Amino acid sequence: MRPARLPQPLDSEALRALGLDPARLPAHVAIIMDGNGRWATRQGLPRVEGHRAGREAIRRTVEAAVELGIRVLTLFAFSTENWRRPADEVEALCALYEQVLREEAPQLAERGVRVRIIGDRSEFPPSLQEAIRYAEEVTAAGDRLELVGALNYGGRAEIVAAARAVAAAAARGELRPEVLGEAELARFLQTHPLPDPDLVIRTAGERRLSNFLVWQSAYAELYFTDVLWPEFDRATLVAALRDYQARVRRFGGLDAG
Ligand code: IPE
Ligand code: IPE
Ligand code: MG
Repeated sequence: MRPARLPQPLDSEALRALGLDPARLPAHVAIIMDGNGRWATRQGLPRVEGHRAGREAIRRTVEAAVELGIRVLTLFAFSTENWRRPADEVEALCALYEQVLREEAPQLAERGVRVRIIGDRSEFPPSLQEAIRYAEEVTAAGDRLELVGALNYGGRAEIVAAARAVAAAAARGELRPEVLGEAELARFLQTHPLPDPDLVIRTAGERRLSNFLVWQSAYAELYFTDVLWPEFDRATLVAALRDYQARVRRFGGLDAG
């Protein structure tokens, strides 16, 4: 039996009370979690304390996503460029993500959350790779929310890997270049078969993608907030969703009606 404290999806009335239209929620929300370092510095703490506080924001955001009925939540946690940081910060981040995956996986499974990790995990310490496998396995049956963690992820690296796989398939005579279209190429991306993000949120005031989901975000709505990631909560997410719902998505066509 599910304990009562587990977050449950809100009904339509509760969503409307938050100012949201239940029929127009984004299926996939992707977040560039930025500002952990600045948050820590402002508190007079070492940067790693910002990453620790960011863990609480991750927990709040996953619970909020379940309540709000979002189907896919992608969190950018470590970029292919983040190896340029000092070794001790990279090590602390790896240790923290390992701990998060191990400690949270059973509760996530209980909540119906399925964890998938995208990015090149092979460059991480073996213990982190093991924690990734564990979290993916333990949560494999989750059907309420797909939680995608982007770790050692770069949009360009992902496209290069897809191009290599396509070229190799063509060289083996398994794929004819003339039949390759957007949908066929997308099958080689790590996000397959998930839908493209409808909404990309970036915190901490930066207004760039930093190599995040560059193919998949071609038609995403972008939302920027000055809130630092450790302060992100359900109210910030709801504000982003309201802003999203006030927009007209044309996809190159004309407004309906
Ligand atoms: C985001 O916070 C977390 C990661 C990139 C891992 P930052 O560490 O980039 O925080 P700032 O941008 O230095 O404030
Ligand atoms: C983007 O944040 C990567 C993640 C959130 C994991 P960064 O802080 O690394 O981005 P830049 O360097 O400001 O572009
Ligand atoms: Mg940053």
